[in-house]
Amino acid sequence: MKFYLTTPIYYVNGKPHLGHAYTTVIGDVIARYKKMKGYDVFYLTGTDEHGGKIEKAARRMGKSPKSLADEMVIYFKDLWRDLNIEYDFFIRTTMDFHEKKVAEIFEALRSKGYIYKGSYSGWYCYNCENFVPDDAPEEDGVKICPDCGSKTEFITEENYFFKLSEFQKPLLNFYRKNPDFVQPKFMMNKVVSFVEAGMKDLSITRTSVGWGINVPSDPSHIIYVWFDALFNYITGLRGEFEHYWPVDLHIIGKDIIIFHAVYWPAFLMAAGFELPKKILSHGWWLVNKKKMSKHTGNVLAPQILIDNFGADALRYFLLRETTIGLDGNFSHESFIERYNADLANELGNIVSRTITMALKYFGGVLPAPGPEEDKDVEMRKNWLETEAEVKEAYDNYEFSKGLTFLWDYLRSINKYLVKTEPWKTGRKNPKRTSRVLLTALRAIFCSSKFVYPVMPSSTGKIIKAIDGENLDFSWDRYKEGRKIKSIEKLFPRIGKEEFFKEETKMEEEKNYVNIEDFRKMGLKVGKIIEVSEIENADKLYLLKVDMGDHQRQLVAGLKQYYSPEELIGRKIVVVSNLKPVKLRGYESQGMLLAADIKGKPYLLDVPGEVPPGSIVR
Ligand code: MSP
Repeated sequence: MKFYLTTPIYYVNGKPHLGHAYTTVIGDVIARYKKMKGYDVFYLTGTDEHGGKIEKAARRMGKSPKSLADEMVIYFKDLWRDLNIEYDFFIRTTMDFHEKKVAEIFEALRSKGYIYKGSYSGWYCYNCENFVPDDAPEEDGVKICPDCGSKTEFITEENYFFKLSEFQKPLLNFYRKNPDFVQPKFMMNKVVSFVEAGMKDLSITRTSVGWGINVPSDPSHIIYVWFDALFNYITGLRGEFEHYWPVDLHIIGKDIIIFHAVYWPAFLMAAGFELPKKILSHGWWLVNKKKMSKHTGNVLAPQILIDNFGADALRYFLLRETTIGLDGNFSHESFIERYNADLANELGNIVSRTITMALKYFGGVLPAPGPEEDKDVEMRKNWLETEAEVKEAYDNYEFSKGLTFLWDYLRSINKYLVKTEPWKTGRKNPKRTSRVLLTALRAIFCSSKFVYPVMPSSTGKIIKAIDGENLDFSWDRYKEGRKIKSIEKLFPRIGKEEFFKEETKMEEEKNYVNIEDFRKMGLKVGKIIEVSEIENADKLYLLKVDMGDHQRQLVAGLKQYYSPEELIGRKIVVVSNLKPVKLRGYESQGMLLAADIKGKPYLLDVPGEVPPGSIVR
C-alpha cells in the first residue's frame, strides 16, 4: 500500500506561475486522497537548476546560476507553503548526492555500451533545452522552435549519445503491455506514434553549456539537463529508494510528455531500473488563448489569487474548471463567477445555514431526532450513490467530474432544506427539526471527505465546527448530541465590481491625462542597495537606491510585505521628480511603483539587463 508520486522539477529561471501551481496542486490532491485511503505516500517535488537556460538567465541578471537558483527556490517553497502543499521532499538538482548519483549512472551506462561519443550539428532551442526537428519552420535563415516559438541557435558539438534507437522495440512492447501507461488515452497514442516513426540516438552531453554536472571521465562535457533532471525521481528518494520505487505516478504537463514517456523509460531500461507505473499528462492554462509562460510573458502570479480568495478556492478552481488532460482558459471573471456560485452560494451557504439553525434552536446540541421521513431517506440513499460516483472519478484522476457529482449533491442539500423548512418546525417540533438538521449535517459531513483533498483548510474548519473530528466519514457515525460551534464565513461573496474596482473607476472617470502630462513624470529605474529599519515604524523601510549617476533614499511602506533579502539587489521603478517629503524624520526623495491589491503592494519587475538610471516611458 505504498504510493510514490512526483511533479516535474521546475526551472528556476523565474518565479513560479499558475501553470506550475497547477501541476503541484494536482499532485497534492492525489497525495491527500491516497493518504486518506490508507496508502503510505511519498510526494516529491523540486527544482531543475542546471543547463543553458538557467545559465543564460543568470547571466542576463548579472548573477551566478547558483545564486539565481537559491533566490528562486524561496519563491517556490513559499508558494507551496501558501497553497498548503504537503510534499515529502524538495529536491534541487544542485544537491550533492543528486549530482554524484547522476554522474555514476552516466558512467555505468557508458561502460554498458549504451553511451558512445559522436558529433552532432543542429538547431538548438535553449528555452526548451532541445534540438528542434529538421522540418522546423525558418525565419531569416534561423529555425524557430515549433514548441515555444523561440529563435534557435545552430550548434555543432562533439557529444556523447545515448542509443535511443535500440529502444524502439522494447518501448513499443512496453506500451502494448501497459496501454494505460499514459493518461489520457490521446496522449498515449501520441507517444506510440512518436516511437513508431523511428528514433535517432539522443545527444546527452553539451560542451556549449558550462553549468551542469560534468562527465567524470571527460569533464569538458556537461551532462544534458534532461538526463540530469529525470533522474531526480530516483535520487530524490535517497534512503527510501528500495521502499518506494517504482514510481506510481508522474504528473506532468503535455509539453514534456516525450521526455517522460519515451526518453525516461529508455534510460531506465538501460540502467536496469523498473519502469514507472503511470504518467498523468495535463493540459495548459491559457491566457488570451496562449499558453501561460515566462517566455510569452502572460504569466499570472498565483499569490494574488491566494491573497484575495484563499488557497482552497484556487485549488478548487484549478481542479474543477478543466478536465485533466485538456487545456483551460484562465480569466479573473470566470474565477470569481465559479467562486461565488460554487463556494459562496453553495458550500459556504449550506454550512453556515445548517450550523446557524443548530445553534439557534438547540444551542448547538441536537436532541433525539424523530423518525426518518421519505425526504430524509432520499438524502441518505443519494449520498451512497454520490459517494460511489465520486470515488470512481477520483480513482481515475477525473477530479472535475468528481467535483461535479459532489456539487450536485451539495446543491441537493440546499433544496432539501427548502423543502423540509426546519425554520418552520424550529423549537416547536424539536424531534422533526433535529432529524432534518441531523440529515443535513450528515450530508455535509460525508461530502467533506471528498472535498478535503481539494480544500483541506476549509474542510478542517467545517469538521471542527460540527464536531466530526476522528469519526470515520460514514453516514451513521455522525449522530445527534455532538457539540456544534459557530463557524466563520468560509467564502465571503466577492463582488466582481469590487475586485476590478480600480479598472472600473478609471473607466468611469475618464480622467485622461495627455502625453505632455505624462512626460512630466520622471520615471526611472533604480536598484535597491540598502534596506534599513526605521525606529518605531512597523510599516516603513528606509531604502538606499542606486539611480545610475547618484544614490538617493526613499521611505517606503513595504515592511509588512517584503523582507530586506527580497529587496536588496532588486530593480524598481521610481518617480524620481516627486517633491521630497519628510516621513518619520527621514527625507523620502521619490516614490517607488507597485501594483496595489487590497492595500498590498506588488513591486513592478524590471528586466535584469536594464541598468539603474534608465528612463521609463
Ligand atoms: N524542468 C522541466 C521539467 C523536468 S522534470 C524531470 C520543466 N520545467 S518547467 O518549469 O518549464 O515546467 C514544469 C511544469 O509546469 C510542466 O509540467 C509544465 O507543463 C507545467 N506548466 C508550465 N506552464 C504551464 C501552463 N501554462 N499551464 C499548465 N502547466 C504548465 O519543464
